Amino acid sequence: MKRYARAAVVARLVTQIAILFAALLPCAAQQAPAASTAAPAATTKPAAKAVPLATPATFVGSETCGTCHEDIARAFAMSPHEAVDTGDKHGFKGNACESCHGPGSNHIQSLSAVDIRNPATLSPAETDKTCLTCHRNQPTTAGRLEASHARNAIACTSCHSIHAHGPDGLVVRKFAEVNTLCESCHIDVKASFAEPFKHRVPENAMTCVDCHNPHGSFKPGLMRMASASEPGCFKCHGDKRGPFTFEHAPVREEGCQSCHMPHGSQNAKMLIRQEVRLVCLECHANLPVPNTRGIVTGVVPPAFHDLTSPRFRNCTICHQKIHGSHIDRNLLR
Ligand code: HEC
Ligand code: HEC
Ligand code: HEC
Ligand code: HEC
Ligand code: HEC
Ligand code: HEC
Ligand code: HEC
Ligand code: HEC
Ligand code: HEC
Ligand code: HEC
Repeated sequence: MKRYARAAVVARLVTQIAILFAALLPCAAQQAPAASTAAPAATTKPAAKAVPLATPATFVGSETCGTCHEDIARAFAMSPHEAVDTGDKHGFKGNACESCHGPGSNHIQSLSAVDIRNPATLSPAETDKTCLTCHRNQPTTAGRLEASHARNAIACTSCHSIHAHGPDGLVVRKFAEVNTLCESCHIDVKASFAEPFKHRVPENAMTCVDCHNPHGSFKPGLMRMASASEPGCFKCHGDKRGPFTFEHAPVREEGCQSCHMPHGSQNAKMLIRQEVRLVCLECHANLPVPNTRGIVTGVVPPAFHDLTSPRFRNCTICHQKIHGSHIDRNLLR
């Protein structure tokens, strides 16, 4: 009973209390009982309770939050999210803190963690929802729901530290730090970049996000798409783009990884097999059963291809335009 009476009073007095706190600070945490002096129920010790207040919380404004959480407020002023506080676009002008933490009136009254939302303690799905209220329609997060990072409960906050500051705080951009971030969970992938033929990721000459979109993709494997729905490989290997008059079906249909191991490989040119011939014969052989990857397509080389002769060992000596040709349907030139 007393609790409700107090809550009703305080709800109306939120602003005054905020001002009072501002006066009583710098060290609000130790001043917690001050909340009680301002309210009738002087015997309760709000900071120790574990149940949230029943009053519906209202917005108090970022400035109020900043009176106690000074370091965060100072850092926040330099972060891109400051735009939420200063702009009209997202409907949280002056209330940016509460755009992620929810209305804070109960929290500033009780000073208890149970009265404020902390995305770090929410389920990943709820955290994502918080972020996606504003970031949903950005190209960067399209495909998010299809992606295994979402399915496997890797929340936005696993990769973005909202309150960190400095050049690589909110978003890691430096090549070395992007790679360190990804490798912290994908240790096996890090190992494949130690193979003799590989992309220069360990040297930090490029990053995982050159090929993958960490936010998700409509393609398998979180593949980044260049323009339209092309694989991101074309960003650097533009000569393989085409369009070719005579395409080699798997390049388009199955993607580069049907012949290459894009992370790293024991084999020259990062091929999936030791010899070029073996790559080709995975699909171009008179096989009674589908090949190891379940692919049954591809035509059988004509009879003059004497596969026992070394002359035919390196198919690409003749079939030079293996990624597609403008003039020859047999990809010879
Ligand atoms: C009067 C001082 C004061 C004000 C104003 C204040 N807080 Fe707090 N806040 C605290 C204290 C004290 C704690 C530590 C509570 C604990 O650990 O139990 C805290 C903890 C938190 C936490 C961490 C909760 C957790 O799960 O550990 C968040 C998030 C938070 N505050 C956000 C806010 C936001 C957002 C605002 C503005 C709406 C705000 N605070 C205003 C004093 C304040
Ligand atoms: C874009 C969403 C977002 C905004 C805006 C935001 N926070 Fe946070 N806050 C978080 C997340 C997420 C965490 C959990 C820790 C983390 O991931 O950095 C957090 C954690 C906290 C904590 C707990 C202590 C800690 O560092 O873990 C406090 C206190 C806090 N925020 C206060 C504030 C204040 C004050 C503001 C406004 C100046 C604010 N937050 C604005 C998302 C946000
Ligand atoms: C109330 C709306 C809102 C919410 C909620 C929100 N953001 Fe933002 N976010 C913005 C705005 C506005 C910017 C400023 C950059 C811009 O113009 O897009 C921004 C910027 C960012 C950036 C930096 C973009 C850059 O290019 O540097 C990241 C990363 C980010 N937000 C992640 C998050 C995460 C993670 C969450 C959830 C914990 C979150 N945001 C919640 C509105 C929001
Ligand atoms: C697996 C790690 C990871 C997760 C999970 C993640 N991000 Fe990112 N995010 C990144 C990286 C890395 C970048 C920098 C991308 C780059 O440089 O191309 C980035 C960039 C961004 C940017 C800046 C715009 C851009 O594309 O450069 C925004 C905004 C953003 N993320 C929001 C979010 C939101 C919202 C979520 C949750 C739905 C989220 N991120 C989840 C790693 C992640
Ligand atoms: C917090 C841990 C964590 C971080 C950090 C992380 N990932 Fe992941 N990632 C996972 C988990 C868990 C899965 C799903 C299980 C799996 O396939 O290994 C996954 C899956 C993937 C997949 C496979 C998708 C599929 O559908 O097969 C790719 C690609 C990927 N992550 C790339 C990245 C990149 C790039 C980064 C850095 C920007 C990154 N990850 C950072 C945990 C993480
Ligand atoms: C040169 C482009 C490229 C780079 C750089 C790259 N990847 Fe990949 N990655 C791929 C391709 C292509 C696939 C296969 C996608 C598919 O399954 O369709 C893949 C698959 C994956 C998978 C799925 C499981 C697996 O091992 O096949 C994970 C996880 C992954 N990459 C993580 C990473 C991480 C972490 C980094 C950075 C250390 C990274 N990748 C760098 C192109 C790249
Ligand atoms: C950010 C640019 C970039 C992207 C994206 C990229 N590559 Fe590369 N790739 C390179 C560079 C640079 C080299 C040369 C490597 C070296 O010499 O260290 C290379 C080398 C290769 C080679 C071996 C060439 C040789 O002569 O040994 C293959 C095969 C290859 N890339 C395939 C791919 C595939 C498949 C993808 C997409 C999954 C891809 N690349 C995405 C930059 C890129
Ligand atoms: C049908 C199998 C196959 C597919 C699919 C394939 N490649 Fe290749 N690629 C090869 C073979 C075989 C070689 C080696 C040629 C040689 O040694 O003469 C090669 C060589 C390369 C090279 C190095 C030599 C050069 O021509 O620059 C790069 C780079 C490359 N491929 C990129 C790609 C990219 C990017 C894709 C996807 C768009 C792709 N490959 C798809 C079979 C394939
Ligand atoms: C992943 C399966 C696959 C691999 C590996 C592969 N091919 Fe193909 N190839 C195909 C398919 C499918 C076609 C289209 C067949 C059709 O049009 O009926 C094709 C077409 C061709 C053609 C043109 C034939 C025609 O009638 O259009 C040539 C030449 C060819 N491949 C040579 C090669 C060589 C050389 C290699 C090895 C470097 C190779 N292929 C690797 C699947 C593959
Ligand atoms: C000495 C040059 C040479 C080598 C080496 C060679 N081919 Fe060919 N291949 C040709 C020529 C020429 C044709 C076109 C035949 C025609 O037009 O009737 C052809 C045609 C093909 C075709 C198309 C068949 C069709 O019905 O359209 C395939 C598939 C093929 N080769 C696969 C391979 C494979 C796999 C290898 C490696 C084991 C290989 N070739 C090695 C010269 C070569």
